[in-house]
Amino acid sequence: MLTQEIIRTKRDGGELDAADIAGFVRGLTDESVTEGQVAALAMAVFFRGMSRTEAVALTLAMRDSGEVLSWPELDRPVVDKHSTGGVGDNVSLMLAPIAAACGLAVPMISGRGLGHTGGTLDKMESIPGYQAMPDNALFRKVVGSVGCAIIGQTGNLAPADKRFYGIRDVTATVESVPLITASILSKKLAAGLGALVLDVKSGNGAFMDTPERSLELARSLVEVAVGAGMPTTALVTDMNQPLASAAGNAVEVRNAADFLTGSARDPRLLEVTLALAAEMLVSGGLAANPEDGLARARAALEDGSAAEIFNWMVHALGGPSDFLADPDRHLGTAPVKTALTAGRDGYVTDYDTRGVGLCVVALGGGRTRPGDPVDHAVGLTGLLPIGTRIERDTPIAFVHARSDDQVAAASAQMRKAVTIGDAPPAMAPVILSRQG
Ligand code: URA
Repeated sequence: MLTQEIIRTKRDGGELDAADIAGFVRGLTDESVTEGQVAALAMAVFFRGMSRTEAVALTLAMRDSGEVLSWPELDRPVVDKHSTGGVGDNVSLMLAPIAAACGLAVPMISGRGLGHTGGTLDKMESIPGYQAMPDNALFRKVVGSVGCAIIGQTGNLAPADKRFYGIRDVTATVESVPLITASILSKKLAAGLGALVLDVKSGNGAFMDTPERSLELARSLVEVAVGAGMPTTALVTDMNQPLASAAGNAVEVRNAADFLTGSARDPRLLEVTLALAAEMLVSGGLAANPEDGLARARAALEDGSAAEIFNWMVHALGGPSDFLADPDRHLGTAPVKTALTAGRDGYVTDYDTRGVGLCVVALGGGRTRPGDPVDHAVGLTGLLPIGTRIERDTPIAFVHARSDDQVAAASAQMRKAVTIGDAPPAMAPVILSRQG
C-alpha cells in the first residue's frame, strides 16, 4: 500500500496488515517516508489506537530495522528488566548484579535521563573510567565473564525507533500506548533476550500518572511481548514518591553502593528490587516461584556476591577495581551540601515527585534536550518516605549543588515538592499489581 493509503486506513479507524506495517517501518528507517508522513501516522495511531496484532507487527518490524543480537555462547538464561522511568529509581544498579549472582546473564542496555526522570547510563558514568558505550566485543566479553553489563544503546539496535521517537517527541504523539509498547519492546527484542521483566511506574513521578493508564500500558507491554515471542511479566510499582532516598547521578550510585554492601537500604527500594529479581529468576527458569526467587535474590545480596559482581562489572568496563571499597574516593562531590529542614513538626504526607525530578534537572543533574551534558555530582539525598514523622529541625533533603544560588533555588523547589501535614497519611503499597 502507498504510504498515504496506510495513513488514510489508520486515520479512518481501519486495521493495517503486517506487510503494510513492515513497509512503513522500512521507509521510516531509510527515510523514504517523510517526516510529515511519519507524524501523520503517529497522530492517526494516537487517536485510533492499534489492535494487539498490529502492535506486534509494528514491534517486530522495528526490531528488524537494525541489528538483532543473539547470545549462543552463553550457557545462562538471558533476561533483562526495563523500567518506564521514575525519580530516585536506581534499581538497575543493584538488580543486574543480583540477577547475575543468581546465574542469569543480564545484557542491560539502558538509556540516558530525559525530562524529569533519571537515566541509568548517566548514573553509571558518574564512575570515573566507566565505559558506558563499549564496542560489541567488550560488551559480549563482560556479559560472558561477569554475568551482567550495564551499557548504552548503540545506533544499530532498532534504528527505526530512534527516528520515530524523535518525530513523536516534537508532534505530541509520545503518549500512545501501542507506540510506547513498540518503542520499548523493539529495543529489548533486538537485544536478544530470552525473557523480560517490566517495572511499569505509576504515579505523579511516572510517565503514566494514573493506576488505570499504568495498568493499560503494563497489559499492552506483556501481551505484545508475548505475541512477539518473548516471555514477559510486569510489576506495576508506585512512583508517587522517589523510590530511593537519593535523586541525581553520583548520589544514586552512592546509594546503590550502600545498598549492595549492606550499610543502608531504603525499604521501598529493597522491596521493588527483590521482587523484580524474583520475577527475573522465575522467567529465566532459575527459581520455581516468586518466593523461591525472592529467597535466592536476598541471599545473593546478603552474602556479598551481588556486590562482588557489581564491582567486577565496573572494573571490567574500565572503572576502578576497588570501587565499592571506597566509593566516596571515586565519585565526584558537589562543592556545596546544605540541609533543608522541615520548618515545622508533622508528617511527610505527599510528594510532587515530578517536581523532585525537575529540581535535580535545575541543579544540572538532568537534561532538557537530548545530548545536553549532565553534572554528575549534584542532586538530592536524605529524601524521606511518605509517613515519616518529622520535627521542625529535621532535614527533609540535603541539596548537593555547585553554588549557594543553586541551593536557594533548589530549596524553594523542594519546599513546594514535599507536603508536610499534621496527621499521619494513609500508606500505599509500593508494588501495586503484577501482569503476566
Ligand atoms: N520510552 C521509550 O523507550 N519509548 C517510548 O515511546 C516511551 C518511553
